[in-house]
Amino acid sequence: MSRGLVPSAIILLFSNLIVGALSGNFIKDFDITWGDQHAAILNNGKLLTLSLDQSSGSGFKSKNEYLFGKIDMQIKLVPDNSAGVVTAYYLSSLGATHDEIDLEFLGNMSGQPYMLHTNIFTQGQGNREQQFYLWFDPTANFHTYSILWNPQLI
Ligand SMILES: *[C@@H]1O[C@H](CO)[C@@H](O)[C@H](O)[C@H]1NC(C)=O
Repeated sequence: MSRGLVPSAIILLFSNLIVGALSGNFIKDFDITWGDQHAAILNNGKLLTLSLDQSSGSGFKSKNEYLFGKIDMQIKLVPDNSAGVVTAYYLSSLGATHDEIDLEFLGNMSGQPYMLHTNIFTQGQGNREQQFYLWFDPTANFHTYSILWNPQLI
């Protein structure tokens, strides 16, 4: 992968929450891309939160591109009936032959498990989907989900 990836997160529908903390600054280095009222930058730019209710979700995106890194995202997913809710956190470069690293949490009916859906694109080529059921309840608490990307591995 030659170009940098842009971290981006999108939440669609109902009351889940994403919290990100950064060694840089969310005010300076990131844009809220949608759902302004459901996004907050706190602690002088050290903390960014996104929430979701019946009216809207929200999302944010880095202004800069990055080559390699580790991103930790604290996420608590929508409990009960979350069918149709997708909570996503991904890195993507721009252009037709883009590179991308995806984490998507797919909601489900009450009592049914969330699915974690992952994919990786290199030079515009995906087809590396993997799906996982989690071994804990992702709606009960915040959990830290990380993407580690270095020259050896993702
Ligand atoms: C929803 O739950 C059903 C039943 O356990 C499971 O087969 C299905 O994969 C789940 N769907 C998603 C999107 O997680």
